[in-house]
Amino acid sequence: MTKFADIKGFVFDLDGVITDTSILHGTAWHQLADSLGVTWTKELGDGLKGISRMDSLEMILKAGHKENDYTQAQKEALAAQKNTNYVAEVDKMTPANILPGMKAFLDDLRAKGYQLSLASASKNAPRVLGKLGLTDYFPKIVDPASLKHGKPDPEIYTKGAELLNLDPAQCIGLEDAAAGVQAINGAGETSLGIGDATELGAADMVFADTSEVTLANIAKHLD
Ligand code: BG6
Ligand code: MG
Repeated sequence: MTKFADIKGFVFDLDGVITDTSILHGTAWHQLADSLGVTWTKELGDGLKGISRMDSLEMILKAGHKENDYTQAQKEALAAQKNTNYVAEVDKMTPANILPGMKAFLDDLRAKGYQLSLASASKNAPRVLGKLGLTDYFPKIVDPASLKHGKPDPEIYTKGAELLNLDPAQCIGLEDAAAGVQAINGAGETSLGIGDATELGAADMVFADTSEVTLANIAKHLD
């Protein structure tokens, strides 16, 4: 079992962990699903968290039994349409969209010398960080375009630790999605889930809300 003193780095998911963009992704996908005649459910929306843009589209089409109805070019156009709607919402964001407690947590981590990297599946992550005023906190970002496999595959979290020159066992990964928790566990990092404990049951520790994510609370789980 990992001890708190072993931890040297934190590998962050972005959407749903640092900011509330998971809601914006969900709304944009919901809109697209409606336009395609695919019934939207909470389960479908939750299952898309952490999943790459094209894989999300495939999951939506599959849910509506429409996976064979579009050419690759048409699928790319649909994903681009969702992204245009999503980016229009992102561009309205400000530092006020940082989730409760997260700025203080990031400041505390920096002050105490922990290393930080970003393991987001989103190609829009640098843009979102810019809107939040957090670009300087994350000079080390895993490029999702460089990945062979998306979450739940561990690759993105393995790379997140590599960017910090740390062993995965020295890192905590933070996630709001079941697929992301699975990726962290597969990479051999300690998993911190934020959200519903039933949904994130595989995590080493689960906090209901970002405001509970503090070094003191994490230490309680590891010592
Ligand atoms: C993840 C989100 O962080 O990024 C997913 O949880 C999203 O909902 C994925 O589909 C890809 O994002 P983008 O911005 O590249 O379409
Ligand atoms: Mg997320």
